[in-house]
Amino acid sequence: MATQAQDIVGRTPPIDAGRPLPDLGSERISGDRFHSRDWMDREWTRMWRRVWNMACRESDLPEPGDIFVYELGKESFVFVRGHDRQIRGFYNVCQHRGNMLALGGEGCGHVESFHCTYHGWQWNIEGVLQHIPDVETYPQFRDGVPAHTLGMEPVQVDLWGGWAWFRMDPGGPSLAEFLNPIPAHLDPYEMEKWDIVDYKTFEWPCNWKAACDAFNESYHFQALHPQMMQWANGIAVVELLGIHSRMVNEYGTVDPRYHDQERPGPELRQYMGMRDIDPESFGRPPQEVRLEVQRRKRAVQHDTYLPYRNLSDEQLSDVFHYTMFPNVSWNVTSESITGFRYRPHPTDPAACYYDLIIMGHLPPDAPKPEYTHRTIPKDRLPHSYRDVLDMDLSPIISRVLEQDGSNLGAVQRGLSSDGFRGMVLCDQELRVRLFHQVLEDYVEGRR
Ligand code: FES
Ligand SMILES: [Fe+2]
Repeated sequence: MATQAQDIVGRTPPIDAGRPLPDLGSERISGDRFHSRDWMDREWTRMWRRVWNMACRESDLPEPGDIFVYELGKESFVFVRGHDRQIRGFYNVCQHRGNMLALGGEGCGHVESFHCTYHGWQWNIEGVLQHIPDVETYPQFRDGVPAHTLGMEPVQVDLWGGWAWFRMDPGGPSLAEFLNPIPAHLDPYEMEKWDIVDYKTFEWPCNWKAACDAFNESYHFQALHPQMMQWANGIAVVELLGIHSRMVNEYGTVDPRYHDQERPGPELRQYMGMRDIDPESFGRPPQEVRLEVQRRKRAVQHDTYLPYRNLSDEQLSDVFHYTMFPNVSWNVTSESITGFRYRPHPTDPAACYYDLIIMGHLPPDAPKPEYTHRTIPKDRLPHSYRDVLDMDLSPIISRVLEQDGSNLGAVQRGLSSDGFRGMVLCDQELRVRLFHQVLEDYVEGRR
């Protein structure tokens, strides 16, 4: 097939399996960061306030006055599209006596202005103070209302990948500087065109970092997800990308520990069925399923709206797992993302919110997917994640998530034990070590 100009621009940098891993040391990582309130407080002031956080899709706010309320830890934020079509973000708080302004809970809404339900102060959708009832009874405003000191409290907002991101503290690196080099890796997927297909939040009985760590390595496949090794490679290639990182899991294969298998097993046959590959007539070793997936997608790359032509063969078959510090992980395939976001609980270091955000790259004329976002509390966690989703999640992926989630209450108790002497990490867990070192840099004031 002739190489065309668009085939060689904007490619994701390839991952080099043979490159030696950087040496990040081998110290134990203590358990106190998972349960101490002091750690939780320092994380808030020194880390969460100073990183770029992912809030909502730009498409959640199509028209002026559309709002999205997003909660993180103890704070609630409101994002709003102004009359000038800019997206702004504010703390969701009234500057009179501290009531919250948008009271409908998390998610989308629409306002003509922000109107406090307590005493009726009012701001326009650009956050500028508009009205104070009985303003003449404020002696301090006798010479005029200093509206510029009474605006809604802003956060910095910038856009990338179809998402609005925000940073609480002023100054600091731009979003592009903070995320570097992630956009160069993921822009070939054309993420601004993607839609959220489903979004559910699960309250998990563990610190947000224990949840994050659970997805930042594949070392646990053999013990926690043994069935996965029948349709994926549990030995991932790992790469550190500044404060962020990625790993690649081959899908549509068997783990090297099963390479003596001659025929695809039941899980891999199910995986093949989802890709219209007939297991009966396939007739090749199991590890060649992913090559067949690649071949089929490559064959249609110039006849599809999907950006196959921008992607390498590996990107057509495998799962590229990116973690953007601190709390966003995306399992990226050429058609969809199974995205995770880990949010700290407002008060309890032993609980967190696990956002399962599934995105799809749908045909340009497809209707916007309908889903209802809701939070499932920790005493009502489902046996099957499929049961609480609006979309039809594949049973093999649902089972993996159930295994991950079911383990974390025990991990949290153990991390909080006086008998735990700290995490001992191997090379397969290098991304976990990087994450904790970057976090320490923030919390200890080196970043
Ligand atoms: S608290 Fe908002 S108007 Fe009084
Ligand atoms: Fe897992």
